[in-house]
Amino acid sequence: AVVSAEPGDLAGLRVLVSAGGTREPIDPVRYIGNRSSGKQGVALAVAAAERGADVVLIAAHVDGQVLAEASGRSGIRVVRAGTAAELADVVFAESADIDVVVMAAAVADFRVADVSPRKLSKEGRARGLRLDLVENVDILAGLVERRRDGQTVVGFAAETAQEDELLERGRRKRARKGVDLLAVNEVGWSKGFESDDNALHIIDGHGEVVAEPKGSKREVADALWDAVLSVR
Ligand code: CTP
Ligand code: CA
Repeated sequence: AVVSAEPGDLAGLRVLVSAGGTREPIDPVRYIGNRSSGKQGVALAVAAAERGADVVLIAAHVDGQVLAEASGRSGIRVVRAGTAAELADVVFAESADIDVVVMAAAVADFRVADVSPRKLSKEGRARGLRLDLVENVDILAGLVERRRDGQTVVGFAAETAQEDELLERGRRKRARKGVDLLAVNEVGWSKGFESDDNALHIIDGHGEVVAEPKGSKREVADALWDAVLSVR
C-alpha cells in the first residue's frame, strides 16, 4: 500500500470514528438495517492509530472479522452501539474532549415507533403489515451544534448519484450539515458496500473538492486524514 503521510503525524490527536450501520428493532428477532460493513470506518480508525492518534471507535454492527482489525490494537478503544439512539448516546458522551469526529457510520434515519415486545405473527395479517416509523436524532447535526473550538467534524454521505449530481448533492449536504468536511461516495446495488475499495470526493467548508482519493479503504482513509490535517 502507498501511504502518503509521515507516520506519527496524528500524534497527540484524539479522534472518534463511528463505523458500521445501526439496526432498528421491529420485534425481539427482527430489525431494519442497512448494508454498511464498517470496513471504511475501521480502516479510518486503524490508519489514525498507526499515524499516532488516540482513537475511540464506536462500532455499530461491524462485521466480526472487520472489527478484529481494530480491537486489541494499541491506540484504539472500541465501544459498541446498536441502534441510532444508542449510537447518539455514546457519540455525545465520548466526543466532549475529542479533536476530530468522523461519522462514517450509516445511521438509520427512522426507527419503528412501537417496537413489539413479542415476535410479530402473520396470523390475522392477510392484508399485509404496516410499520409506523419516527425520525431518529441527527447525530452529526448534534455534533455540529455542540462543536467546541478546535474540534473538527467530518461527515460521510453515500449517494446513489453520479458525477455532477453526486457532487451537487454533496455540496448541498455539506452546507446543510455545517460540517468541516464531507466525504461523498457513490453507492448502488453492486457498488460501495462490503467492498475492499472505495472512491471519495472530499468537500471542505467552502464547498471545494479538496481531494478525490480512490483505492483501498486504507488508502482512502489516509487521504481523509490528510484532508483533516489540511483544514485544522
Ligand atoms: N447521520 C447522523 N445521524 C443521523 C443520520 C445521519 O449522524 N440520524 C450522519 C451520517 O453518519 C453521515 C451524515 O450524517 O456522516 C450524512 O448522512 P446521510 O444519510 O447522507 O444524510 P441525511 O442528512 O440523513 O440525508 P438523507 O436524507 O440523504 O439520508
Ligand atoms: Ca440519512
